[in-house]
Amino acid sequence: MTYQNFSLSQLQAIDSAHYLHPFTDHKDLRASGARMIVRADGPFIYDSEGHALLDGMAGLWCVNVGYGRNELAEAAYEQMKELPYYNSFFRCATPTPVLLSKKLAEIAPNHINQVFYGSSGSESNDTALRLVRHYWALEGKPEKNIIISRNMAYHGSTVAATSLGGMSGMHEQLGGAVPNIKHVMMPYAYELALPGESDHDFGLRAAKAVEDAILEAGAENVAAFIGEPIMGAGGVKIPPASYWPEIQRICRKHDVLLMLDEVITGYGRTGEWFAAQSMGIEPDTITTAKALTSGYQPLSALLVGDRISKTLVEKGGEFYHGYTYSGHPVACAVALKNLEIIENEGLIERVKNDTGPYFAKMLKERISGHPLVGEVRSFGLMGAIEIVKDKATRERFQPEGSAAVAVRDHAIAQGMMMRATGDSMILSPPLIWTRETIDMAGDRIAKALDLALADLSKAK
Ligand SMILES: Cc1ncc(COP(=O)(O)O)c(C=O)c1O
Repeated sequence: MTYQNFSLSQLQAIDSAHYLHPFTDHKDLRASGARMIVRADGPFIYDSEGHALLDGMAGLWCVNVGYGRNELAEAAYEQMKELPYYNSFFRCATPTPVLLSKKLAEIAPNHINQVFYGSSGSESNDTALRLVRHYWALEGKPEKNIIISRNMAYHGSTVAATSLGGMSGMHEQLGGAVPNIKHVMMPYAYELALPGESDHDFGLRAAKAVEDAILEAGAENVAAFIGEPIMGAGGVKIPPASYWPEIQRICRKHDVLLMLDEVITGYGRTGEWFAAQSMGIEPDTITTAKALTSGYQPLSALLVGDRISKTLVEKGGEFYHGYTYSGHPVACAVALKNLEIIENEGLIERVKNDTGPYFAKMLKERISGHPLVGEVRSFGLMGAIEIVKDKATRERFQPEGSAAVAVRDHAIAQGMMMRATGDSMILSPPLIWTRETIDMAGDRIAKALDLALADLSKAK
């Protein structure tokens, strides 16, 4: 039986009766019912009522090659027929994760040559946390186990990933975080720069907060610093150019490992394979997932730098960690094909030299002047529109996030799927977007802003 046998209201009733959605107010959802997305093609998703929506979020930051890629379906089908599953435990392997690891080592920064697989970004950050602590234990320094992270960071939703993240609402529901994780200020100049402080100086000050935390804990107790190169779920917060090189300098000075969470930024979004390359830094671990398969299969890969892998291999002893689906052959086959598509179609160069700059120009020229917009920002093909009540004073609408939700709802009605997080409207489109798609998005977002402004003015 297929979904076509059901009406929307029947599907919604079954949904309400049985399906607990992620990150959802379950009471609220049951009052409104879910929108059913039933198919997709290229840059568009379609709901059960036949509405086409331009997908400004690439699913959830993942469908980098766009929808309807038969090659990916075929790669999965062929692998499933040949060998749907076998594990990589107990001195076994299957060929696709082996070959994918070689490919990842080729595209990653030079000092990264080993890979540990999971099925999600959260799992991969659990692996990263355990791996850096294990590394220091192997090095004879088990006390070096504090991890420094940032407020508003998002590293996933398992207990360890929530603990690494800096989302206060998530921490409140956790009932006890993984110990020895500290959080410092985020590098978000629009809200946190002092009057008259340049972006450059703010970036250095935000990095200094990390150094202060290392000194306060004692460098001999600090294992690593973790950060998203650009904070995604926290609102596409792009640090000043001075921030990451300074973070790297501080980490090296205090012999603290650098962990980068590229679950969103990996595989082309910033105009390089990895944002580490865009930012010119050499992290010890890079967490990746999502666009590794363009979301066609659940797969994550922790890319592990030579410093850590050398110790792991030379010192030996079992690392008691792994998942049934670590190196899943079907997911890895899809990832290999997906990376081939990204490469063959030159999608990364396109983001760097054409669509990324054009996207930035569209946001600046079409959106930034709107009365509801405090700031626009972008890097490659990820961007944000900051919604404010007053451009000059940067005062926000109350309650927090309500105006952005109004813009989002109008955007969806205009055929533009985008997300509101706090007072930020965020965009992370498939890398197949062209200048025409960007123009179409600009039209729809501008219209949504006008309609939201009319509503908000009436409500005053
Ligand atoms: C930066 C970052 N890290 C980790 C995750 C968690 O990934 P997953 O939802 O696959 O567990 C996300 C998810 O959006 C993310 O944005």
